[in-house]
Amino acid sequence: MLHLCETDKLWVQETMGKIKEKMAWVREKSADKIPYTTINGVHSDESTVENSSTGEGASWWTNGFWGGMLWQLYHETGEERYAEIARKSEVILDSCLEEYYGLHHDVGFMWLPTAVADYRLTGNEDGKRRGLHAANILAGRFNPVGKFIRAWNGVWGNGKDNTGWAIIDCLMNIPLLYWASKETQDPRFQQIAMIHADTVMENFIRPDGSSNHIMEFDPVNGGVVTAYGGQGYELGSSWTRGQGWALYGFILSYIHTGKQEYLDTAKRVAHYFIANIPEDGLIPVDFRAPKEPHWEDSTAAAIAACGLIEIAKHVGEHEADMYLNPALRMLHALSEQRCDWSKDEDSIVQKCTAAYHDEKHEFSIIYGDYFFIEAMMKLEGSDFLLW
Ligand code: GLY
Repeated sequence: MLHLCETDKLWVQETMGKIKEKMAWVREKSADKIPYTTINGVHSDESTVENSSTGEGASWWTNGFWGGMLWQLYHETGEERYAEIARKSEVILDSCLEEYYGLHHDVGFMWLPTAVADYRLTGNEDGKRRGLHAANILAGRFNPVGKFIRAWNGVWGNGKDNTGWAIIDCLMNIPLLYWASKETQDPRFQQIAMIHADTVMENFIRPDGSSNHIMEFDPVNGGVVTAYGGQGYELGSSWTRGQGWALYGFILSYIHTGKQEYLDTAKRVAHYFIANIPEDGLIPVDFRAPKEPHWEDSTAAAIAACGLIEIAKHVGEHEADMYLNPALRMLHALSEQRCDWSKDEDSIVQKCTAAYHDEKHEFSIIYGDYFFIEAMMKLEGSDFLLW
């Protein structure tokens, strides 16, 4: 149970009103798309390679978030139209299951907010079938000797073979395995998820509570080979979205398993994150990057806020504010300075960044909107924990 002051309750109510108004408008405008970003204020459409702004098409890893926004709003409003549009993404994603090759560990990001949300909210058996199919793909990526879930396929960025690579982001994909075990009463999915989470706890999280983005393990004999800076500034730096994935991911593993070490680790990452939040509450791409150039990543703020709110719900009342207050600070900063409520722009949250060394920074990204909405709904007490 979260305790908000009267002013914050009013702010949550007003912000939810703005979210509902914007979503009721944009859901119709983008009803046949799966958006990732906006181009001149208009949602991109990633549903086919031809249209896609990323060149990836339907298997682009963020293609579950639009469906997730719609299912959250369905849960909030009960309006059937949200479900109708959300199911369009779910059907488009079937082509990825059929093609298979474009898929990697992000099947959790793709099918939890779409098919599994549909099944859990409406009982649609097609959602269950799709979700279990995706869970089997994720479980199939487990390396039993290295005790990790393989992240990507082929080569990545620096041209290296990535058979032994695991990444911090995967903590958000393994709730698909927790769900599959509950659904099938087969413990294997959860066993894989927990072995992976234990490996991450042991090898990714540094003594100060910060997290590496990528770790390479020996895929044949097991054991750590090396770490990589990944989407952050450099090796040893602190990519903020990765810190957010770690923070939210560990509290989710705690929620699903009750394993105390996951809560302790989520708190440790949270303490590091909280200590680094700038005065203005707006989060840079990397906590350990040079002061200039300064690029923000609003997605990191929204994701970390979601994780902090969940921690606040799972600790004693005397501790809760320590996690809730920084979440409120970041969400106030986003809602007051980074949200576009106008009808000139299809997205809500601005100034998101995919990776420090990309050419493009500070643009709109769909999961910025998704996690901002989820965080506000958590504050309202109306969210659906689809992870
Ligand atoms: N999971 C990929 C990213 O956070 O950019």
